[in-house]
Amino acid sequence: MPIPKIPLPMSDSMTDNLSDKWGRRIEYLRVSLTDRCNLRCVYCMPEEGVPYENLDNVLSFDEIERVVRVLATAGLRKVRLTGGEPLVRKNVPELAARLNATPGVREVTLTTNGILLPRYAADLRRAGVSRVNISMDTLKPERFAEIARRPEYARAHAGIASAIAHGFDPIKLNCVLMRGVNDDEINDFARLTVGQPLHVRFLEYMPIGMVTPPAWRARYVSNEEVLTRLTEEWGELEPIESDAASTSRTFRIAGALGTVGVINPISHRFCDGCNRLRLTANGRLVPCLSDNYEYDLMTPLRAGCTDADILHHVADALTHKPEQSDFEGRLGKGGSLRIMAQIGG
Ligand code: 5AD
Ligand code: SF4
Repeated sequence: MPIPKIPLPMSDSMTDNLSDKWGRRIEYLRVSLTDRCNLRCVYCMPEEGVPYENLDNVLSFDEIERVVRVLATAGLRKVRLTGGEPLVRKNVPELAARLNATPGVREVTLTTNGILLPRYAADLRRAGVSRVNISMDTLKPERFAEIARRPEYARAHAGIASAIAHGFDPIKLNCVLMRGVNDDEINDFARLTVGQPLHVRFLEYMPIGMVTPPAWRARYVSNEEVLTRLTEEWGELEPIESDAASTSRTFRIAGALGTVGVINPISHRFCDGCNRLRLTANGRLVPCLSDNYEYDLMTPLRAGCTDADILHHVADALTHKPEQSDFEGRLGKGGSLRIMAQIGG
């Protein structure tokens, strides 16, 4: 049992620093550019899709740039563009370049399903995006069509090739493991890292979206099981240091060019070092992925609020950031109100 921490009183200097009441400093903003996607992954979206947000209710690039600029005056350092699928929105490289040019921002990264990378990789690199996470849950084309509900394996694969060709570094492959669906591919994914500079990360399946508790439990594969299976195949793995805010534990197979990692939202909570905040496409701040709470930033933004107001709204939203995630607790209370494509992972 972790020892409960006593909340710190909020002082002005702390709000300036974008700290929450547990003393965690927010340096990382995940911005969902759209809730739209060109795939329909079973763990993320219903087959028929979701009613998309009306485009009038989606933050413009100017609005996103403004929020980032203001937060960067208070300690924001890193921005990740997510979706839905971020690249289905037009002109993402232009936005990336603008965010990269924002004083204080050190890094702009992207999480994508890879399908549109062949078209955008060069422009993204020119825009200063050097790291990319690509979602890839199977190396089998027929299975891809089942998991993503679209027969797009070849294009997703071409996206990875294009990321390599354009020199993104690191390139991380996110693989959401589900028992009986793709957990037989753990070592096939690990093999990719031996001869190529690819960093495979196995994500624990999170109960987000419409999944029922029994369906989620039946599919859930813990990180511990993944590490056991990897060690059985490859022998002792070499652990690689990561920073406190990192959500993953990383290892190298002896002699490999890339790495394997596990991301464990459920079995090992990584909340102590959490430095992140999420902004949805429709302008809601989401302080924690495991919690339904969201804060409407869109209304004040469109009502002409000042930069100082933005900081106050964000500080207000952060007072709702829980100390620890509680995915299972939320399942008991009726599950998540949003699907992953609306939050951006
Ligand atoms: N559990 C775990 N990972 C998920 N992702 C989407 N939905 C889930 C889920 N229910 C992953 C995507 C993407 C990342 C942002 O989150 O595959 O790689
Ligand atoms: Fe699209 Fe990513 Fe959701 Fe798959 S997981 S449907 S690629 S947003």
